[in-house]
Amino acid sequence: MKIIVGKSENSMNHYAKNCIIDVIKTNDQPVLGLATGSTPVGMYQALIQAYRQGEVSFKDVTTFNLDEYVNLASDDPNSYRYFMNDQLFNHIDIQLDHTFVPNGNTTDHQQACLDYEQEIDQHDHLDLQVLGIGTNGHIGFNEPGTSFESRTHVIELEPSTREANARFFASLDDVPTHAITMGIETIMESKAILLIARGADKKQAVKELVDGKRSPDFPASALKTHPRVTMLLDEAAASLL
Ligand code: GLP
Repeated sequence: MKIIVGKSENSMNHYAKNCIIDVIKTNDQPVLGLATGSTPVGMYQALIQAYRQGEVSFKDVTTFNLDEYVNLASDDPNSYRYFMNDQLFNHIDIQLDHTFVPNGNTTDHQQACLDYEQEIDQHDHLDLQVLGIGTNGHIGFNEPGTSFESRTHVIELEPSTREANARFFASLDDVPTHAITMGIETIMESKAILLIARGADKKQAVKELVDGKRSPDFPASALKTHPRVTMLLDEAAASLL
């Protein structure tokens, strides 16, 4: 795993933005895996700015998001579909029907998972997957204990994950109990991975990822055998390395 420690938030956003633009410019039909949470927001802002300055066009880009809450309407401000439209898609020239987020708002979640896998398959894998990391080592919403062979599936969120994400909701009770997430094997099939972590809250998880063993108890550790992983860290997140 290649580790890059950014000296400033700006330089991290710039680096991440350039990774994405490289993929777009070197593929005829680029397929990006995107993430939500607070971590990638600065990167999305940098991409919007690059688009406005004519540095990049998204018209041939397809995107797949990692995860989505179960039973939130797509226009609920806490849904990841809403987040992606609001933070990125509404501000660039991407075709919205080329942007995929798992469908958590359906009566048949198992079918939604199969449909998502099939859609990814039709696009012949992702060129680059952007990841954040949960303090418990989750990637997407793959909580500790998730099989490394998992494909897109429904998962029950850990209390610690619901608490970490409660800051976006009116109360903890409003945080969904379940989500649909790409599986670990699905993520591992991406040709390259960019994992971004910021802040002291993530330093323990980053240390475990770098120094710990490869085990489903710490889902991000699956990445240790992926041939092309870049970890982009700020100084606080890298402080235990
Ligand atoms: C959320 C998301 C993850 C994200 C992580 C970290 O639960 N499902 O994809 O990477 O938690 O979030 P943040 O970037 O806000 O720290």
